[in-house]
Amino acid sequence: MSNYDVIIIGAGPGGYVSAIRCAQLGLKTAVVEGRDTLGGTCLNVGCIPSKALLHASHMLHEAEHNFAAMGLKGKSPSVDWKQMQSYKDDVIGQNTKGIEFLFKKNKIDWIKGWATIPAAGKVQVGDDVYEAKNIVIATGSEPASLSGVEVDEKIVVTSTGALELGKVPKKLVVIGAGVIGLEMGSVYARLGAEVTVIEYLKNITPGMDVEVSKAFARSLKKQGLKFIMGAAVQSVSATKTKAKVRYKLLKNDSIAELDADIVLLATGRKPFTAGLGLEALGVALSDRGQVKTDAHWATNIAGIYAIGDAIDGPMLAHKAEDEGMAVAEVMAGKAGHVNYSVIPAVVYTNPEVASVGQTEEQLKEAGRAYKVGKFPFMGNGRAKAMFAGEGFVKILVDQSTDRILGAHILGPNAGEMIHEICVAMEFGASAQDIAMTCHAHPTCSEAVREAALACGDGAIHV
Ligand code: NAI
Repeated sequence: MSNYDVIIIGAGPGGYVSAIRCAQLGLKTAVVEGRDTLGGTCLNVGCIPSKALLHASHMLHEAEHNFAAMGLKGKSPSVDWKQMQSYKDDVIGQNTKGIEFLFKKNKIDWIKGWATIPAAGKVQVGDDVYEAKNIVIATGSEPASLSGVEVDEKIVVTSTGALELGKVPKKLVVIGAGVIGLEMGSVYARLGAEVTVIEYLKNITPGMDVEVSKAFARSLKKQGLKFIMGAAVQSVSATKTKAKVRYKLLKNDSIAELDADIVLLATGRKPFTAGLGLEALGVALSDRGQVKTDAHWATNIAGIYAIGDAIDGPMLAHKAEDEGMAVAEVMAGKAGHVNYSVIPAVVYTNPEVASVGQTEEQLKEAGRAYKVGKFPFMGNGRAKAMFAGEGFVKILVDQSTDRILGAHILGPNAGEMIHEICVAMEFGASAQDIAMTCHAHPTCSEAVREAALACGDGAIHV
């Protein structure tokens, strides 16, 4: 059978990006992927299709709520769900075919099927055994289950089923106010569903800067999403057309029920490593099922590496991509590096939420002396022209050095604007460095500069 320098298992953002970098560095590379298309969860049933539906439903929201005020009169568009689905599928197809093209361009072999690792240096797919100097596990993650909740991907769905419902539900109950629950909840709320989110904790999006999380919750409530906070879902009973969600309110242990047409289970994801044969091989796993790696993504078995959602850290496509490039460099004898303290996180709702670095709560807990610079989008002319004056930019800096420690944005294009701060943090910049940088007017990014100014002598437009 063929011999390779590297075989990567999984063609998601971690695996395919790693493969391209390996090939660029002169390594003979193959990727094993069992799906019919490349791109993994992100491109096929995750990031990309959800962004298509978020975009389409945002356009509808604009037409319904803001067009008339701008002098754009006429009947609001109605939803052709079948066409919206085919638009979404077309976006997926363009992206997955793009990766196939990149594989051909870089002479990367796609081995179709599901892999096992019978021994170090060997990858088996069906009856074929391939040899490789190095193997990279990039198998990603799958939805975590919740006891008492049986997923059928029709009435009780995960994010996968939520992307291809037969129709827009009248009543959608979302379990978990994390990123998936809020993004998909927003889509269906905009398309006309009554959406109720049940969350165990007292704030939405755990881990987010609490001030931002609270403002975000207020914004989503204004858009019509309902929240039941401090409630643990205990079970879901479903028929072929309806479901009943049973939950316990933690403040008084009372039990309540909610009817739904569709229930979305969005209580987290877990590493997808079953079937690889890792236990038999003796690859060390954490008690959460993550493949244990060292600082260079090496497992305890020589020649086997792991990256992305299968290992520790935030389950984000761009974190997996960075690890994929870095591990390729390590395998090619170079110094691969990922700066884990500067990994942005974005929630693609409207307004968007983006953050990087530390939250105010983390700084308090670490006993760090810090300053806060904030600026509201209401003071930004461009945002107001876009009906997007909601939200703010918040920058956290070291009190004595002014070095940026974290930044959090709730507002228009937050997911694009955060990168200015990521670059600044990579360069070890101070808020003053951003404040002294000329920003084009009128742009939403001026709010970032204003927040940086607010860390020093003060913002101008408040
Ligand atoms: P999550 O971990 O973000 O949120 C899950 C929520 O469910 C938590 O708030 C938790 O307290 C709650 N919960 C757990 N058990 C519960 C129960 N019994 N009753 C009520 N609430 C309960 O998980 P999510 O949203 O499923 O996302 C999974 C992963 O995918 C995350 O790591 C996320 O970062 C990633 N992702 C990232 C996206 C992005 O970057 N835009 C988009 C989609 C997913």
